[in-house]
Amino acid sequence: MTTGQTDQAQGDGPGWDAAAYDAHCAFVWAYGSDLIDLLAPRPGERILDLGCGTGHLTRAIAERGADVVGIDRDASMIAHARQQYPALTFQVADAREFQTDQPFDAVFSNAVLHWIHDADAAAAALRRALRPGGRLVAEFGGRRNVAAIVAAVADVVAAAGYAAVRDPWYFPSIGEYAAVLERHRLEPVWMALLDRPTALDGGEDGLRRWLTVFGGRLLATVPEAARGAVIRAAEDRLRPRCFRDGTWYADYRRLRLVAIAR
Ligand code: BEZ
Repeated sequence: MTTGQTDQAQGDGPGWDAAAYDAHCAFVWAYGSDLIDLLAPRPGERILDLGCGTGHLTRAIAERGADVVGIDRDASMIAHARQQYPALTFQVADAREFQTDQPFDAVFSNAVLHWIHDADAAAAALRRALRPGGRLVAEFGGRRNVAAIVAAVADVVAAAGYAAVRDPWYFPSIGEYAAVLERHRLEPVWMALLDRPTALDGGEDGLRRWLTVFGGRLLATVPEAARGAVIRAAEDRLRPRCFRDGTWYADYRRLRLVAIAR
């Protein structure tokens, strides 16, 4: 689920902690598994899993009989994936620059494309990876994804006197992203923007863990030593809205789509 240099993964901060991601973020691949039903992989098809992270969905696609390759720009994610699934093929590669001389029947991508602000570069690479008639099946954060979390953290960052972070992620509307796809000869045949409040692993610690694993861009202007206090203040603001029965919920909105390479 990570893909590029400063515009991706944790932004300008350090790379991913693959072990923490694997241990605490199972909701990412749990929610992604019905995207595999939409992909409907067939035995023998060649499929690219773009931004495969630690490889759990790559494995699920392989279990349907497809010949799958997982790519991720983060070497620690790929090392983790190879260790867990040694029979599968994984490669360290940046989504925007990915090249292949054997185009795929399908590209699958879960929870990745919102990390890439240069959506045209990503779409061009997605199109290059597909044979004509091949399909892209993707899901990522859509317009107003995690808006409550972003607003609360922005408020507490400002109240603590640190600079604002603008547009930490790319969360397009359906119309905006359809235009991106069409510019790159990817014909959207189905798109939806779905509210999906997402239970975070970790009970009382759930939001803190989410911000620690994923929130590097939101907290980029806050010195490391001050982050704990900022996160506690964000928890206070978000608790009435996002904490229920011992569990934190992130206000996810997913843009889900199928597009055909023309
Ligand atoms: C998401 O999957 O929607 C997401 C994950 C991390 C940061 C922002 C959004």
